[in-house]
Amino acid sequence: MKYRNLGTTNEKLPAIGLGCMGMSFAYGPTDEQESLATLERALDLGINFWDTADMYGNGANEELISKILVPNRDKVFIATKFGFRFKDGVAGPSGTASTYFDGSPAWVKVAVENSLKRLGIETIDLYYAHRVDPNIPIEETVGAMADLVKEGKVRYLGLSEASAASLRKANAVHPIAALQSEYSILTRDVEKEILSTVHELGISLIPYAPLARGLFSNALDLENLAADDFRRTLPRNQGAHARNNAHLVAEFSELAAAKNCTAIQLALAWVLAQGNDMIPIPGTKKRKYLEENVKALDIQLSAADLENMEAILHKYPNIGARYSEGAMALVNH
Ligand SMILES: NC(=O)c1ccc[n+]([C@@H]2O[C@H](COP(=O)([O-])OP(=O)(O)OC[C@H]3O[C@@H](n4cnc5c(N)ncnc54)[C@H](OP(=O)(O)O)[C@@H]3O)[C@@H](O)[C@H]2O)c1
Repeated sequence: MKYRNLGTTNEKLPAIGLGCMGMSFAYGPTDEQESLATLERALDLGINFWDTADMYGNGANEELISKILVPNRDKVFIATKFGFRFKDGVAGPSGTASTYFDGSPAWVKVAVENSLKRLGIETIDLYYAHRVDPNIPIEETVGAMADLVKEGKVRYLGLSEASAASLRKANAVHPIAALQSEYSILTRDVEKEILSTVHELGISLIPYAPLARGLFSNALDLENLAADDFRRTLPRNQGAHARNNAHLVAEFSELAAAKNCTAIQLALAWVLAQGNDMIPIPGTKKRKYLEENVKALDIQLSAADLENMEAILHKYPNIGARYSEGAMALVNH
């Protein structure tokens, strides 16, 4: 395993983590036994940085993970997130009418207790605000999170999809170790001002959805996604965008074949090549995929490879937005 540091801390984390969301939520049918086996395999492979959130399956993902986390507590660095709440108890993806975001200090205190209980542990290693609440000053949210550090309930603080301005305000209240934002070869928002800000402040970027939510996989059949698959809501998977992206992925796959890897591995290698202070968290619920993804750490991309990848993007620019309008309204705040 290759390692990367978490922010300016002495914490050494594997160069890729494991996104656990799909084990309970968002990406079609789940299989508890295979998910648990995937977590076990992750430990064998040294992928001990696991990512979850209280909203994934309305707590079910944290409960699932606890089955492997609790007996291996000293081996796992666990990250979870808080803030999305469900109206009338109806669980659903972010950005839909049934969810809202709550970054109030009062909710921070309740949410952490709920996560600790479901995870079955006494301290969360990395606790993120899942979004920046547009109605609450970020200093107040982070102030309440900092209290959790003092109380020993949380070790490090993170934000997700925060703007450069919010990062600066938050970091002035308490050091922010990590920013988790969507970053992949198809989703480049952070390149505008976030990357330079995290470098300056010594914050690790944790790119989520580094595989563009499986778009680069030949196994992904967009026409036949499960009725509740969250990817149905994404503009990028619809109409002209979907057609554009099918061409893009086909050419990307040819490039990957020439490098003896899959398009997914190439996409992950691209993220890894963007900087040593990034720790992407590719998501999977399958051992097979986990084993393939870890091999991306050994793929070397030359300047010509990177240029070829950019050329494909220029050829097929109609990629589409990464979220629906409702969910986009909550990112980069
Ligand atoms: N902070 C946030 O707002 C936020 C938002 C979204 C996600 N996240 C976190 O980031 C993690 C990663 O993002 P993500 O899971 O949404 O997207 P992702 O990592 O870009 O892609 C996951 C998809 O790729 C598929 N896949 C994985 N490895 C593969 C391989 N080797 N070959 C073919 N297909 C492969 C997975 O299939 P299977 O499911 O079949 O394994 C899944 O459908 C999540 O698990 C979650 O923890 C955070």
